[in-house]
Amino acid sequence: MARAFVGAPSNIEVTPIIERHPTREALVAAAAEAVTRAIGDAVARSGLCRVALSGGETPRALYARLAQQPRADAIPWSHTRWFFGDERWVPRHAAESTFAMVNDALFSKVTIPPSHIFPVPTDARDPQAGASAYEATLRAQFGRVPWPAFDLILMGLGTDGHTASLFPGDAALAERGAWVTTTRAGRPIPDRVTLTVPVFAHARAMLFLVAGSSKAGAVAATLGGPRDPARWPAQGVAPVAGRCLWLLDSEAAALL
Ligand code: 6PG
Repeated sequence: MARAFVGAPSNIEVTPIIERHPTREALVAAAAEAVTRAIGDAVARSGLCRVALSGGETPRALYARLAQQPRADAIPWSHTRWFFGDERWVPRHAAESTFAMVNDALFSKVTIPPSHIFPVPTDARDPQAGASAYEATLRAQFGRVPWPAFDLILMGLGTDGHTASLFPGDAALAERGAWVTTTRAGRPIPDRVTLTVPVFAHARAMLFLVAGSSKAGAVAATLGGPRDPARWPAQGVAPVAGRCLWLLDSEAAALL
């Protein structure tokens, strides 16, 4: 049975490393380096790297870059497992599906066995059933642990401050028992399935990718403002003991 997650006093959270890059292209190049390194480290340590992915425009550019040669040949794909930090409740091949986006940009371009890819089952009866089924999938993959420790979780940041599908003020943010939950607070697709705060907090490494001037206010409030994770959810998901790296372009970092 899952142990209740009590949270960590802010003084033992690992301070995030913040890197500013002059352009979005430079940010994506740095992200590809960081992901390649994180996969290499995890495979060297345990023979396996389990990654949870995010949706959005900036990650899409990263996924496409990971699939490009010569980088693609440097990644030990057969030792990787691919999960989703959140998903929009749409059919798997719909235009708005994060799975469809990653499949198009990455999975279809490299040799990852389909059995190593774990999409959120959006063909389940409803989002709650999908969340339960996804939690069962994670439990089967991670074994009998209180919380799964992903080797790497990729995150974005919305202009409103949301990350994954954890939206400001939403009930999903307060979930401390389940590994996976639902929300209706997404835009433009309201229904989403998302991993929960304790799962994010147990990541071994977390990488935020944030680009563009529309994100500058949310970046400044999240990284430079007072602690208020109910308003700025990305403050609350930082790994308690893992590495946390924020990659920003100069526009997103403008108000820091
Ligand atoms: C999604 C994710 C969301 C996303 C951020 C940043 O929309 O699938 O839930 O958390 O990662 O909104 O997205 P952009 O990079 O497109 O701004």
